[in-house]
Amino acid sequence: MKIGVIGAGTMGSGIAQVAAQNGNKVVLVDSSEVAIEKAKLGLQTTLLKLVDKDKITPEYYQKTLDNTSYSNDLNNLYDCDLIIEAIIESLSIKHELFSKIEKIVSDHCILASNTSSLSIASLGSVLKNSHRVIGIHFFNPAPLMPLVEIIPAVQTSTEVLNKCQSIISDWGKIGVVCKDTPGFIVNRVARPFYGEALRIYEEGIADFPTIDWAMTEFGGFKMGPFTLMDYIGNDVNYAVTESVFEAFYYDPRFKPSFTQKRHKEAGFLGRKSGRGYYDYSENATSPSPKKDEELGKMIFNRILCMLINEAIDAVFMQVGSVEDIDLAMTKGVNYPKGLLKWADEIGLQSVLSQLETLFQEYGEDRYRPNALLRRMVREGRTFY
Ligand code: NAI
Repeated sequence: MKIGVIGAGTMGSGIAQVAAQNGNKVVLVDSSEVAIEKAKLGLQTTLLKLVDKDKITPEYYQKTLDNTSYSNDLNNLYDCDLIIEAIIESLSIKHELFSKIEKIVSDHCILASNTSSLSIASLGSVLKNSHRVIGIHFFNPAPLMPLVEIIPAVQTSTEVLNKCQSIISDWGKIGVVCKDTPGFIVNRVARPFYGEALRIYEEGIADFPTIDWAMTEFGGFKMGPFTLMDYIGNDVNYAVTESVFEAFYYDPRFKPSFTQKRHKEAGFLGRKSGRGYYDYSENATSPSPKKDEELGKMIFNRILCMLINEAIDAVFMQVGSVEDIDLAMTKGVNYPKGLLKWADEIGLQSVLSQLETLFQEYGEDRYRPNALLRRMVREGRTFY
């Protein structure tokens, strides 16, 4: 198998590494020489560290480097079997790229996109042979994160889907198939982790450290929502929220938050700018949470029920299977437990009651319990 990766930035260089480490010949293409040089040096440095730690042998290091070639010319992709593009997130620029590469590659070459937010059907619309388009969505950092979302578009052939599933599995990754809908599985189901935390803050129920404490202490999440948003970057996280909100025809479930918008506008982007919800400057002191158990449990339960409702909606709308949705959240964003398994453990009746209480209190559509949840409670069913 020869793999082409276009875009040698954060994602493309990681995807190229995964393919090369799994014995594939890889061509990594970028229009920027600087990006290519950075990717080349990055791969060498990463692999050398692994050699130093005895995680890989010097032979494996050399073989991986030998498998990888770099170019700024798309024509060098002519003999690839699979091309994954990871260039800038712009539909028009990706369209232009797909049109160009289709003229270079053979008829059997699969054309995949690592897009987080664009529709795969739309990307494929510019292809003459559109059955070969597919989404292959890695998580950052690609060499370390086990999850890959595989997204067939309406045009994608079963053969192309099967082939991609088998490649992803051969690369030692966990592939989950999801429908070509906004945010796929992870970026859709995870929205309330941020959105409901921001809402709780905006209502003055608790401050950032207390909400973070509630989610780590009672939920077992590795990081609280505000710490995580500061890692992701408020600009990046806000952009995803806004794009999912728009793509869902402004469904209030996904409404972005003014708090996050203002933090972004102020340049409080998170760790990368030295200040986000928290201050990362040298002498800054970390604010303490208010460790009130009752308050903490209330916050955790509210956010968890909103996450579960979203996961149930993804099942209801057939975005993915029950097992795949749970795998996606545990392997793509390190949730301590699959949300549907969690729902079974808490009891679906309890989840429904908590959502109904919120719905009655606020009268907002955002808190409406999913129809599948109601149906399952009525029929006494569980997910597992
Ligand atoms: P990045 O900005 O780190 O890298 C993009 C690279 O593409 C740059 O090196 C740029 O020079 C190159 N490029 C831009 N236009 C090009 C063109 N027309 N031809 C060839 N090269 C071109 O971006 P990043 O973060 O790696 O994202 C890439 C894609 O992956 C986007 O579609 C993004 O939505 C998606 N993605 C990003 C994730 C992340 O956490 N950063 C996670 C999963 C998906």
